[in-house]
Amino acid sequence: MRFKTAQIRLVSSHPEVYEPCDDSFALVDALLADRSKLIEHKPKLCMEVGCGSGYVITSLALLLGQESNGVQYFATDTNPYALKVTSETLEAHGVHAELISTDIASGLEKRLAGLVDVMVVNPPYVPTPEYEVGREGIASAWAGGEDGRSVIDRILPIADNLLSDKGWLYLVTLAANRPLQICLQMRQKGYASRIVLQRSTDEESLHIIKFWRESDTQ
Ligand SMILES: C[S@@+](CC[C@H](N)C(=O)[O-])C[C@H]1O[C@@H](n2cnc3c(N)ncnc32)[C@H](O)[C@@H]1O
Repeated sequence: MRFKTAQIRLVSSHPEVYEPCDDSFALVDALLADRSKLIEHKPKLCMEVGCGSGYVITSLALLLGQESNGVQYFATDTNPYALKVTSETLEAHGVHAELISTDIASGLEKRLAGLVDVMVVNPPYVPTPEYEVGREGIASAWAGGEDGRSVIDRILPIADNLLSDKGWLYLVTLAANRPLQICLQMRQKGYASRIVLQRSTDEESLHIIKFWRESDTQ
């Protein structure tokens, strides 16, 4: 059974796990838009931070398809139910990833430093009071603290450590997260960026930003 992206009917669910939503679809559409580049990129190790239902990491593995034989996939989440659901979603599509219950990539710093060729992140980005960030269960899926940036700002330096020299980061942001400022911040760390996809829904304006090291001529 081979699809280009994960099939919603095969995506597992749990009341405490974030269901694929507009932001998840926008991220997968951005990956699809970049599919030929991703295939040419020949990633060896791909990673998702905050995998939720597994819709995105499964889609990434499927869209890389046959070309991705031998590619290793990793996915993390703080919500243990998310890892169970992701494992079911991956299995239903016949693909595999190593799943780790952790805060962002805690414990993986040494193992994966400089090795991640593609990182995908749909973080908790909704502006909320700071005390809502990192709560147990489904609330951790969206609570992003001030400007929705609390988790994003912790992810960026970790991504910088984990990404390989040719590594690409795809990050979902909301207009309220000040995406331009995120790009400038990453520029200071030596990253170029491009908005791969911009989508406005009734509720939010989403930007999927791709980052890569300026030293790597894409
Ligand atoms: C907006 S949801 C996205 C889920 C899925 N990637 C998707 O696109 O449908 C954010 C996910 O990040 C997880 N998360 C929140 N804080 C995290 C952290 N500090 N480390 C790892 N995962 C986290 C949540 O549990 C949730 O599953």
